[in-house]
Amino acid sequence: MKLIKQILIFFITIFFKIFFLVFGEPKISSRLRSVVNLYKGNSFSSLFKIIRVWDAPFEEIEKAVPENGKIVDLGCGDGILGNYLALSSKKRSVVGIEFNKKRISEANKGIVNTKFVYGDILKSNFTKADAILLIHVLHHLESYIDQEKLLTKCKERLNRGGKIIIAEIIERPLHKFLFTALTDFLIVPILFEGRLMNTMIHFRTLDKWKTLFKRMGFKYKYSLNHQNMPFSHAIFTLE
Ligand SMILES: C[S@@+](CC[C@H](N)C(=O)[O-])C[C@H]1O[C@@H](n2cnc3c(N)ncnc32)[C@H](O)[C@@H]1O
Repeated sequence: MKLIKQILIFFITIFFKIFFLVFGEPKISSRLRSVVNLYKGNSFSSLFKIIRVWDAPFEEIEKAVPENGKIVDLGCGDGILGNYLALSSKKRSVVGIEFNKKRISEANKGIVNTKFVYGDILKSNFTKADAILLIHVLHHLESYIDQEKLLTKCKERLNRGGKIIIAEIIERPLHKFLFTALTDFLIVPILFEGRLMNTMIHFRTLDKWKTLFKRMGFKYKYSLNHQNMPFSHAIFTLE
């Protein structure tokens, strides 16, 4: 497994070095760049942060997050988004929760208005919040029922006027969806989960997400955010 991971890292590194040489490094805001710089160290880990801020719509998500109040980032990974949100507004108090020990151990960068804790978001009783974030997390849960259970819990834990912000992968454009599926089924498990593949990914189509949110009594807005990005992102804001 270790060998497969090293081979994969080798090919990803070569691919992106050439890609960035030919097309230039992704254009990201100076604030997002300073967050990436917090993670300098192991060379693949640093490269991965650049890839992540390129492949995820963090700037769009930041605009949807309230500028002050308690922000809970569920399945926060290595904390890039949480640190970015905290640096973007000192009035935000950001709590990230994650159950991958390696990833959460990288999250705390000493930014005062952040706190990152190890925990299973399906089991932990996180505090009430003004915004709860589920950024590429719902499809990683082990079942559709878990998605609904977690959304119900989030609804109960919102302060008055609060919102749930979700980034998900939808079926369009097809080539971007297929690339995301390949990443989630094969690349993420090898790089981060110590396993060869993960077959427990639970995508929904755009219409199925809308139906679910409506059935659960949420008011929702959404935008499609895949332009200039490799994955088929949609961002939903639920109230
Ligand atoms: C695709 S990553 C996204 C990470 C981060 N939200 C981001 O956008 O960079 C999904 C994350 O959800 C985490 N996750 C999945 N199920 C979880 C659970 N039950 N409890 C805590 N974290 C979970 C995974 O470990 C992984 O780090």
